[in-house]
Amino acid sequence: MASFHWSVCVVLLCLASGVIATPPRTPVNVPFYRNYMPTWAFDHIKYFNAGNEIQLSLDKYTGTGFQSKGSYLFGHFSMQIKMVAGDSAGTVTAFYLSSNGAEHDEIDFEFLGNRTGQPYILQTNVFTGGKGDREQRIYLWFDPTKDFHSYSVLWNMYQIVFFVDDVPIRVFKNSKDLGVKFPFNQPMKIYSSLWNADDWATRGGLEKTDWSKAPFVASYRGFHVDGCEESVNARFCATQGKRWWDQKEFQDLDGYQYRRMSWVRQKYTIYNYCNDRVRYPTKSPECMRDRDA
Ligand SMILES: *[C@@H]1O[C@H](CO)[C@@H](O)[C@H](O)[C@H]1NC(C)=O
Repeated sequence: MASFHWSVCVVLLCLASGVIATPPRTPVNVPFYRNYMPTWAFDHIKYFNAGNEIQLSLDKYTGTGFQSKGSYLFGHFSMQIKMVAGDSAGTVTAFYLSSNGAEHDEIDFEFLGNRTGQPYILQTNVFTGGKGDREQRIYLWFDPTKDFHSYSVLWNMYQIVFFVDDVPIRVFKNSKDLGVKFPFNQPMKIYSSLWNADDWATRGGLEKTDWSKAPFVASYRGFHVDGCEESVNARFCATQGKRWWDQKEFQDLDGYQYRRMSWVRQKYTIYNYCNDRVRYPTKSPECMRDRDA
């Protein structure tokens, strides 16, 4: 009997140690139409390889975008994107989750283009109950226009994590105990779009979009969605607390992930609202949990 217990323990330990360092479940590549549909300017989206890859284009008439068919409460959402190459100054490529209504929740990735050879900026933000103003900006450690990279969000009751490939670049912990709202009851749709924002995007709006370089093209693939889908019958997901993203190893980053995040943040951070004493004389409560702030 004793040896039986012992062997069960060994098996469990093996399973546990195999799981701990694993990043969110490996995304599955699925075609665009499985999870998404175009939102506007349908003729500015091109489909390749049976919809496994798409391209959005922006010209002086319009940009374009798409959204998920379903709405989700918690889960893991990822997209592989290759940003607009060459002169992309003034353009913004966005990938975000958002709920509807006045007091909406939102989780944003925004990629701000630049002149040829100058670095993109990745801006992230989190809105809870209609309140945003939580911008962080980083440079990337690679050229995002050369290859596809994956950008993903893990969202559960404990934290919202932004990943670039497997590297966590930002964590927004549930700080309800500090009086900060956390997205937990408003299902979100996933959106992406490419548009002109030359009034603010590049060097604060100094660099304007050069329309002689249009169309500007961003490519997408790997339309992975693994979330609790809101159904007509269930306003809240009945399975809450039981899905893979709710489990222990996804409730906090592990040591290795924290080290990688610190590396990114110490080397590549341009702006962090948590350290902006001019705009916010009082530090926001959730910033107390920001180890790098
Ligand atoms: C664009 O390049 C300039 C000069 O290198 C840099 O200051 C800026 O942060 C870059 N990115 C954006 C989006 O402005």
